This record gives sequence, structure tokens and C-alpha cells, in this order.
Amino acid sequence: MRNPILPLLFLATPALAEEDFIPPVDHPVTLEACSECHMAYPPSLLPARSWSAIMTTLDDHFGEVATLDEATRAEVEAYLAGAAGDAGGRSFRAAPPDQTPLRITELGWFVDEHGREVSQRMRDKAGSMANCTACHRGAENGWFEDD
Ligand code: HEC
Ligand code: HEC
Repeated sequence: MRNPILPLLFLATPALAEEDFIPPVDHPVTLEACSECHMAYPPSLLPARSWSAIMTTLDDHFGEVATLDEATRAEVEAYLAGAAGDAGGRSFRAAPPDQTPLRITELGWFVDEHGREVSQRMRDKAGSMANCTACHRGAENGWFEDD
């Protein structure tokens, strides 16, 4: 028998602007390891090779020491690589194939998207463009709509 409730639920769901939702980290070990100094960045915003590069240089991580015990490090790397923007043949907000960016904030789409729209006053207030949550209050839950 057909479920009469299903179409109603579908209609009740607000239309989501696909671009504004970027799945957040849903791996507790990664969340704990990578949200101490900044939000745990969404894995799909970098390709797997970038996450591997980041996870093998944690002793020199943007001027900080962010080392983990080897079991945790390997588990986090595997999670991030598996959920990366190019995992499974995807090319979500892709980085140039000949580059291994270590920063989301240096990717072309990021610079374009933020160049036009972000005032100097907002930048100063955030302190760093890597401080996503300063401007996107829902970022940790995956929401990057205009706040
Ligand atoms: C001890 C503090 C610390 C920890 C722990 C830490 N980071 Fe960072 N991370 C930093 C700092 C500092 C920056 C540079 C922030 C800036 O430029 O404002 C940074 C930047 C980054 C960036 C680049 C942000 C951009 O500009 O796009 C990525 C990606 C990143 N971290 C990933 C991780 C991952 C993955 C983990 C967990 C394994 C982690 N970080 C844990 C301190 C930390
Ligand atoms: C200084 C404020 C500021 C910071 C910091 C910031 N953003 Fe943004 N971001 C904006 C504004 C303003 C827009 C443009 C408004 C919009 O399109 O919703 C935007 C747009 C975006 C979009 C596009 C949304 C869409 O509709 O396509 C994404 C994705 C995004 N930001 C992700 C990030 C991530 C990830 C970080 C951290 C690494 C970050 N932002 C840091 C202000 C900021």
C-alpha cells in the first residue's frame, strides 16, 4: 500500500539551497581532534591529497603543533580522505589537479565568493578568513548561508 504521508512530508520540507549546506564532520574522533583551535572544517572542501598532506605534517601545522598519537592520526586521515571533495570520483569545489592546497581559504571559488561580498570591516572582525564561524554562525552544522 502506498504511504499517504510521504508526499506531504516532502511538500513540508523547505526548499534547500544546495550550495549553502556542506556536510559537517560526522566522525567523533575527527571532531575532537580538529575542533580545538578552529572549527572542524567540512571534509568535502579539500581533495583527499590535501587532507593527507595536512595529516602528515601536524608537527608543523600553520605555525602550531597539532600532533596526534599514530592510531588517532591514521583514523582521522582515513575519515577525511574518504569524505573529501574528490572521494568516489566527485569533484566538489575542486582544486586544480596539479595542486595540493593546504588551505580552503586559498581555493579559487573561496576567494571569488568572499572577495566581492566580504567587507574589510567583516574581515577585521573575524580576524582570519579561516575563522568561518565568525561570519557563518551555522557553519559547524554545515550551513554557510548569508547570516
Ligand atoms: C593546536 C591548534 C590546532 C589544532 C589542534 C588543529 N589546527 Fe588546523 N589550524 C590551526 C591554525 C592556527 C591554523 C591557521 C588559522 C588561520 O590562518 O587563521 C589552522 C588552519 C587549518 C586549515 C586551513 C584553514 C584555511 O585557511 O582554509 C586546515 C584545513 C586545518 N587547519 C585542518 C586541521 C585538521 C584536519 C585538524 C585536526 C587533525 C586541525 N586542523 C587541528 C591550528 C590547529
Ligand atoms: C569575514 C566573514 C566570513 C568568513 C570568515 C568566512 N565567510 Fe564564507 N561567506 C561570507 C559571505 C559574506 C559570503 C557571501 C554570502 C553568501 O553567498 O551567502 C560567504 C559565502 C560562502 C559560501 C558560499 C555560500 C553559497 O551560497 O554558495 C561558502 C561555501 C562559504 N562562504 C564558506 C566559508 C568557509 C568554509 C569559511 C571558513 C574557511 C568561510 N566561509 C569564512 C563571509 C565569510
